[in-house]
Amino acid sequence: MIVAIDGPAGSGKGTIASILSKKLNLVNIDTGATYRCVALKVLRNKLNIDDKEEIIKLSNNIDIRFDINNNVYLDGIDVTKEIRSKEVTNIVSPISSIVEVRKNMVDLQRRLGNSNNVVMEGRDITTVVFPNADFKFYLDATLEERVKRRYKEYKEKNIEMSYEEVYENIKNRDYNDSHKEVGSLMRTKDQIYIDSTNLTIEEVTNKFMEVLK
Ligand code: DC
Repeated sequence: MIVAIDGPAGSGKGTIASILSKKLNLVNIDTGATYRCVALKVLRNKLNIDDKEEIIKLSNNIDIRFDINNNVYLDGIDVTKEIRSKEVTNIVSPISSIVEVRKNMVDLQRRLGNSNNVVMEGRDITTVVFPNADFKFYLDATLEERVKRRYKEYKEKNIEMSYEEVYENIKNRDYNDSHKEVGSLMRTKDQIYIDSTNLTIEEVTNKFMEVLK
């Protein structure tokens, strides 16, 4: 069984996927984390973010794993926290635009989805990774609401980013993530659309559960 959820940054995909995975006993796969691992490795290896060739090479030889608690391991080391840093967040979207990087990550995501019952969230899960998923959702919220949520989340996690920085980052990522050569975030007729702007987490969960039941 594959439950696919796409949507922009801050729409609540991660929160809902985590709740659904527990309720329905599914493995929760955060595909953004795979691109974040590539971005972290680019930073660690001090690559220039315009050096596509080297970034592609790096993505050909990267070991990314998840454990059952959704911790993320890059080349064997737990990077769950580090991949959420401001530095990674600022470069991940352009890196995820590189077509060959996407191929590698999509292969990995498909392997994970084919060997488990999963709830998988990202930008192109309903369109590219698993277009035949059992359930396909698009989770949305206004830019202002998403910035507000992320800013609050970063404060709680002690990630130092001003409201303006979060706003700029999400606005830029929205644009970049929906203008990719391959794997753009898009709405399609066969997705179930849910707008979470004025809903509580419980209300959003109920909307998903009504469909999944
Ligand atoms: O969901 P997130 O914010 O952790 O994702 C980080 C970036 O990774 C996002 O800006 C775009 C990219 N991404 C992607 O291109 N395709 C996906 N399926 C998931 C994420």
